Amino acid sequence: MGHSPDATITGGAKPGLNGAMSKPRKLYVKSYGCQMNVYDSHRMADAMAREGYRETDRPDEADLIILNTCHIRATAAEKVYSELGRLRSLKKKAAADGNPMLIAVAGCVAQAEGAEIVRRAPIVDLVIGPQSIHRLPELVARAGNGKAVVDTEFPVEDKFDHLAPPSNAATRARGIAAFVTVQEGCDKFCTFCVVPYTRGAEVSRPVDKIVAEVGRLADAGVREVTLIGQNVNAYHGQESDGMNSSLAGLLERLARIEGIARLRYTTSHPRDMSEDLIAAHRDLVKLMPNLHLPLQSGSDRVLAAMNRRHGRDDYLSIIERVRRARPDIAISSDFIVGFPGESEEDFAATLDIVERVGFAQAYSFKYSPRPGTPAAILDQVPDAVKIERLARLQALIDAGLRKFNAATIGGTLDVLFEKPGKLDGQLVGRSPYLQPVQVMAPVHLIGTIAPVTILDMGANSLFGELISTLRPQVREPAVLAAAGGA
Ligand code: 5AD
Ligand code: SF4
Repeated sequence: MGHSPDATITGGAKPGLNGAMSKPRKLYVKSYGCQMNVYDSHRMADAMAREGYRETDRPDEADLIILNTCHIRATAAEKVYSELGRLRSLKKKAAADGNPMLIAVAGCVAQAEGAEIVRRAPIVDLVIGPQSIHRLPELVARAGNGKAVVDTEFPVEDKFDHLAPPSNAATRARGIAAFVTVQEGCDKFCTFCVVPYTRGAEVSRPVDKIVAEVGRLADAGVREVTLIGQNVNAYHGQESDGMNSSLAGLLERLARIEGIARLRYTTSHPRDMSEDLIAAHRDLVKLMPNLHLPLQSGSDRVLAAMNRRHGRDDYLSIIERVRRARPDIAISSDFIVGFPGESEEDFAATLDIVERVGFAQAYSFKYSPRPGTPAAILDQVPDAVKIERLARLQALIDAGLRKFNAATIGGTLDVLFEKPGKLDGQLVGRSPYLQPVQVMAPVHLIGTIAPVTILDMGANSLFGELISTLRPQVREPAVLAAAGGA
């Protein structure tokens, strides 16, 4: 094993031939951050599978380790350096055993920090930005000869054109629900955000390519597809007739694919919440009743300083229209506390709008100054204030989540079963509102949707019973209590 065969490959050599001959080499990929990284990680694993690499979940037995990193907040970016610190002894041991190990840093930290990563962590052999992942096999072939390879170019070619389509075997192993990148990058330049710098300008994939990919996923047994993009509702991919399709148009096309039972999309910007997308929530049965619509702050002053280009009333008006189209829709959001200049009054406006909207779920973060972004050089809110505000906001959000989950108890939800649960005989699935639901159910129900009576809730999931197996006494209070939960 090891990389010696690769070391001889030069520019003109055809990768893909060398993997077949010896015993499979092993690849360990660790993803940080958003779903787009998870998608990129799968594509990198697919590309390396063609070079003879098999995925492992044990870094100690890997020939190639890829850390697919996130740069969105300082805490996320620092994780890669802690992990590299841990990998140092592993790499040393592998070298001593005669099995040289390659370490690659991919993703947004790679894009933002480039060669600086190798300076801080000399064990890194390869630094590869998110727009270069289609060149991974070629770069791996060049790496490992003592000189690190760094590729963080924004190439002119479209990486999606060069990435091999996901293999059916790979998708099957990855289950019932899949993510598909349809749009990448962002032109919005919110003043706190690194995405426009790390992921680059907004690019939408053509409709046909996405339809083909989702068709392959459906053939491989996938039932639910989440379309992902940093600004997914800004999607404007080309149709075969040369016209542009909106996200609503794309969803409509994908809803016609047999086998795909559920569609979702994330993450959206309020500015791009167009009328046809709102109407799609009314008209498309397969489009699940969820909307993740980051608001960041409830204060007009802060929203302006963030360059969000909408106010709180615009947001409330969108929510009202979306709920008119789909009354049961679950709204979720992202918030940042302690943005530079955020006063107690500004923060109170955030708490107020959180209560008003009644979010089913929300993620909240302390503002983290990102080098190179406009807000990073403004006067900062003290950390103690951020911590205190975050706790208050999270308490409110948690209460909203519990309220949303509690409202489902006693009702029936369609659950798409995804995998076995922790207990024997138990399956875990998702409700239309993305809630994990644990149910005693036969394993052959994986991949199917069945109505489930919700009996109770735990901290992170709901507990239910298949309607078809319901015993008459299940509605007795004693039985409800016994069903328990965390
Ligand atoms: N500091 C804190 N949170 C941030 N986010 C993006 N940039 C920052 C930052 N600099 C949050 C936003 C975004 C989510 C993905 O991460 O809320 O919606
Ligand atoms: Fe970042 Fe704003 Fe673009 Fe979202 S819309 S990715 S927060 S710049």
